Amino acid sequence: MTNFPIDIYLAGIGSVGHAFAQQLATLPTTSLRLRGACTSRHAFWLPETADPAHTLSFDEPATTTAWPDLLTQLTQHARPLIFVDATGSPDVARLYAPLLRQGVHIVTPSKHANTLEQTYFDELHHLSHANGTHYRFETTVGAGLPVVQVVQDLVATGDRIRSIRGAVSGTLTFLFSEMEQGRSYSEAVTAAIERGYTEPDFRDDLSGEDVARKFLILARTAGYSLERSDVTVESLVPPALNVVSQELALQGFAALNDRWQHMIKAARADNAVLRYAGELANGKITVGVQAFSTDAPLGQLHGTDNLIEIHTDRYATSPIVVRGPGAGPAVTAAGVLADVLKIARTIQPAPVAA
Ligand SMILES: NC(=O)c1ccc[n+]([C@@H]2O[C@H](COP(=O)([O-])OP(=O)(O)OC[C@H]3O[C@@H](n4cnc5c(N)ncnc54)[C@H](OP(=O)(O)O)[C@@H]3O)[C@@H](O)[C@H]2O)c1
Repeated sequence: MTNFPIDIYLAGIGSVGHAFAQQLATLPTTSLRLRGACTSRHAFWLPETADPAHTLSFDEPATTTAWPDLLTQLTQHARPLIFVDATGSPDVARLYAPLLRQGVHIVTPSKHANTLEQTYFDELHHLSHANGTHYRFETTVGAGLPVVQVVQDLVATGDRIRSIRGAVSGTLTFLFSEMEQGRSYSEAVTAAIERGYTEPDFRDDLSGEDVARKFLILARTAGYSLERSDVTVESLVPPALNVVSQELALQGFAALNDRWQHMIKAARADNAVLRYAGELANGKITVGVQAFSTDAPLGQLHGTDNLIEIHTDRYATSPIVVRGPGAGPAVTAAGVLADVLKIARTIQPAPVAA
C-alpha cells in the first residue's frame, strides 16, 4: 500500500455504500481516506484531518446535493481521488466521462454506465487507457465474485471468448428453486419479496432486464460490440401486468400458476430443472428460461447463487466456472473495496506543482 493519501468520494450511502464505508473504516491502512459522500438529498465533505477510521454518522455538516457543483468540486479536488458510485443512478453514470477525463479514478457496482450506448462504453474505456485513469466495475456482474476480471485477463492475454453461459440473478434462481419445492409462481415471487431479494419493483427482476444488462457488460468486456436492443430477453411478466400497480400484478401472477407448475413437472419428467439463464454465443445474447439436466452445474444451482461458465479458445473443452453468492450488500461492498485497493496499489502520488 502507498504511504501517501488517496482520497475517496462515495456517491450513494444506501445498502452497498453504507457497507463500503464501514468496511473501509476497519482497514489497517491509513492512506485511504473517505473525504466526502452524498445521497440524493445531502452532500458532505470531511476535513482533511478526519480520522481514516471515521464512519459516516450523518451528523456531518451537509449541503443539498447539486451535481453541477459536486462535479466541479470533484474535478478540482487534490489527486489521487477515487470516485465510488453506489447510487444506481443513470444520471451519475453520465458523469464518469468528465471525471475520467480529469484524472479521477472510478469504481462502481452500478450497471448503468456500461449498458448505455456502446459508444459511451468505448469512450469510458478509451479515457481510462489514454489518461492512465482506472475504471473498475467488477461488482456489476456476480457482486463480489471474480467474473469481470477473469474476462478482462483472458482478453488481455490474447484469448478469445467463444461463449459465456450462466445464471446471474440470485432472485430468479431462488424463484425456480422455490417452485421446485412445491410453491406456486405467485407464492415464490412473494417469498422473494419478503426476503428482500427483489428490486424495489419486483418486475425489474422478473422482466429479465437485470440479467440482460449483466450479459451485455460481459459481452462488451469480451470485446463484442452490442446494443441493449440486440439482446433477446424473455420476460416473466405478461405485458398487461407491467402497467398496473405492484399489488395488482402480484394478484395477476396467480393466473400463471398452473402454467408454471405444468412446465416444472414436464422438466422434472426429463430429469431436468428450469433456470433463468443467459448466453453469449456467436456474438449474440439471449436470456430466458431454459431446462438444464439435474446433472449439469446449472441444474444443480440452488438458493440465490450465481454460476458463470466461460468457454474460450484456450479453455475450449472444459470451461472456467465461477460460482457463489452473487448479491448482497456485504459481498458487493467488499468487491467494491477490492477494486479500490487494486487502484490504490498502482497509482503514484500527484506531482507537486513547481
Ligand atoms: N444491493 C446489492 O446487493 C447490489 C449488488 C450488486 C450491485 N448493486 C448495485 O449497487 C448500486 C447501489 O445499490 P444499493 O442496493 O446500495 O442501492 P440503495 O440502497 O437504493 O442506495 C442508493 C443510494 O444512492 C443514493 N442516490 C440515488 N440516486 C442518487 C443521485 N442521483 N445522486 C446522489 N445519490 C443518489 C440514494 O440516496 P437517497 O437515499 O437519498 O435516495 C442512496 O443513498 C446499484 O447500482 C445496484 O444495482 C447492488
